[in-house]
Order: sequence, then C-alpha cells, then structure tokens
Amino acid sequence: MLKIGIILGSTREGRVSPQVGAWVKEIADQRKDAEYEIIDIAEFKLPLLGEPGADASGAAAWSAKISGCDGFVFIAQEYNHSITGALKNALDYLRDEWNNKAAGIVSYGSVGGARAAEHLRGILGELLVADVRVHPALSLFTDFENGSVFKPKDVQRDSVNQMLDQLIPWSTALKTIRK
Ligand SMILES: Cc1cc2nc3c(=O)[nH]c(=O)nc-3n(C[C@H](O)[C@H](O)[C@H](O)COP(=O)(O)O)c2cc1C
Repeated sequence: MLKIGIILGSTREGRVSPQVGAWVKEIADQRKDAEYEIIDIAEFKLPLLGEPGADASGAAAWSAKISGCDGFVFIAQEYNHSITGALKNALDYLRDEWNNKAAGIVSYGSVGGARAAEHLRGILGELLVADVRVHPALSLFTDFENGSVFKPKDVQRDSVNQMLDQLIPWSTALKTIRK
C-alpha cells in the first residue's frame, strides 16, 4: 500500500501543527487509499545541517523515515513570509530520499500561509518532488480560535480531499520510475 507521510513543519513549544496534522490524518484515514503517518521533525532532533560538534544521530532515522514514504503532505506554517527554519533544515538534510515523489501542501497563517506554501513549492522543485495544485490554506483568523485552537471551517475538509485526490495518483505514478 502507498505510504504517505504527513510532515509537521514546526517544532516550537506551543506550536499548533500537531492539531492540523491530526485533522489531515483523520480525513485521510477515511479514504483507505494509502497508509498515512504523522512525521514530526521535532522527534528527530536534527541540528543545523553540518553544525560542528552537534549530535546528528537522528539523521539516519530521518533518512530512513523519508525513504520509506511514497508521498507527503507538508503541514506548512508561515514564519516571516516563508517556511520554518526547522522544515528547511530537515529538507536540506536529504536529497535522493525526496526525489521522484509527490506532495501536497496544507498551510496556515494570516493569509492562509500562502507565501510560505509558494516558497515551499520552489524548494520542492529542486528536490524533484512533484507538488499538486490543490492547496488547502487555513486562516489563523477564521480556522483557529485566538490563533491557537484549531476549528477549521467545513469547506476546508473538501479542500483536503481534493488535494489528496491529486496526490494519490501522482504518488502512485512516480513510484513506477524509482529504482
Ligand atoms: C517567527 C514567527 C514568524 C511569523 N511570521 C508570520 C508571517 O510572516 N506571516 C504570517 O501569516 N504569520 C506569521 N507568524 C504567525 C504564525 O503563522 C503562527 O504563529 C502559527 O501558529 C505558527 O505555526 P506553529 O504554531 O505550528 O508554530 C509567525 C510566527 C512566528 C513564530
């Protein structure tokens, strides 16, 4: 069965990404079209790439986890009009493990995390990850209470399913060209 990793892009204390990731997984699991797994980059404790003297013992597990996936849903939050440093660092750690796979983006921020999502698309292009068009964009004002308690509008559920409708066939197709 296809394996899709739902990657939490933020690592800060008090982050809301686990709420968003759990909601995406709950919607995705009902489809029964893939095995969906939450991947929390915080658990891998990756230091900055190449940081001298740092403990990079989580890097091998990070590589194995991403290798085992056929596609991804990135839970991307907007920090200073881009993605988090933690997500960029985690992406930078690997190359072949990302190549020839597909991804969807679920973002959030004051304008739905749109600027972060567009930056992420550029990075994914370099990593040979094919990102699908449908992009659920969650507003900190209307899909969260006080910017911290996740209460998505009903329409966002449809958007996640439409994104997955594109992600699953692309993930299936790209599997055929990987060695
Ligand atoms: C360092 C930092 C920078 C931020 N910059 C932006 C921004 O440029 N645009 C925006 O819409 N929200 C911005 N925010 C608000 C975040 O999108 C919001 O706090 C969100 O909950 C962060 O995701 P997280 O809770 O998973 O960490 C910023 C938050 C932080 C911590």
